[in-house]
Amino acid sequence: MPEVMDREEIGEILEKHNGARGSLIATLEEIQARCGYLPEEALRAVVDGTGRSLVDVYGVATFYRSFSLQPRGRHLITVCLGTACHVRGGPMVVEEFERRLEIRAGETTPDREFTLQRVNCLGACALGPIVAVDGDYFSKVNTAKVKRILKKLRSRSGRPDGSALAAATS
Ligand code: FES
Repeated sequence: MPEVMDREEIGEILEKHNGARGSLIATLEEIQARCGYLPEEALRAVVDGTGRSLVDVYGVATFYRSFSLQPRGRHLITVCLGTACHVRGGPMVVEEFERRLEIRAGETTPDREFTLQRVNCLGACALGPIVAVDGDYFSKVNTAKVKRILKKLRSRSGRPDGSALAAATS
């Protein structure tokens, strides 16, 4: 995944979404999909291309959790530490991911395979602890399940189709 985009590429994206409802969000989503995050240079190009202020563009980029201003790993692991998940063992789940990945929550592994983050509620409190991996949700996660999730992610690394992940780890 390229970490930078040239202005021509960004210009194409801007042209594609020009004038559409929610065009700024769509533009940022497409840049992030290509780069894995929103590089500062790209945001400045969006400012130049749209006539919006830098504050405006950064405001949108920082408001939505789905956007990242830092490079992320290929796999985004999100562990819920909201109250319901916390009392059901969420902290142990985070610690297990941290131990196995050798990073702290909020960090990305040096090989850029995994980013680990915490959130306050993923909206499925009764099934906690909840972990979201690249958009797939896992319920009642414990340390054994953490091991299975990582094993499956590592085995499919490099393959774009991870559709069997949830089934294999439930
Ligand atoms: S507290 Fe974890 S899903 Fe709500």
